[in-house]
Amino acid sequence: MKISIINGPNLNLLGSREPQIYGNTSFDSFFTTLQQRFHNVSLSSFQSNIEGALIDELHRNRKDGIQGIVLNAGAYTHTSIALADAIAAIGLPVIEVHISNVMAREEFRKTSYIASKCRGSISGLGLEGYALAIQYLISTNPVHAGA
Ligand code: DQA
Repeated sequence: MKISIINGPNLNLLGSREPQIYGNTSFDSFFTTLQQRFHNVSLSSFQSNIEGALIDELHRNRKDGIQGIVLNAGAYTHTSIALADAIAAIGLPVIEVHISNVMAREEFRKTSYIASKCRGSISGLGLEGYALAIQYLISTNPVHAGA
């Protein structure tokens, strides 16, 4: 099974960015542990600070035979109709993940333009949210259920 993780703006700074909110772990080192944990799955990771590049990656994922996507769209969650349209267009299961609890923060973070196009959302469970999303995608994949 092929699962793609897509991270949006500023998530390249994980580990040093506002550690009291996002923790001390870089995404690269966390990704290594995810690969070990889900060794039966082909995991890919992509990050961009550019909205259009995230949309291009979603489109590419459909062509590349990816079966599920874990998306932390960062602040574009709260602004981007274009990302919402891309999620709807590709027809793949996308799980929205946020490291912090966006419902417990500023008002503007309580709006997600992408949530209604995603299969579901995980917020506030730290980096573990990515693992829970992957676990869900594996367990609901028709071919690899139970893997
Ligand atoms: C975030 C929450 C967003 O509101 C914020 O803009 C981010 C990170 C999270 O993972 O908690 O960049 O998506």
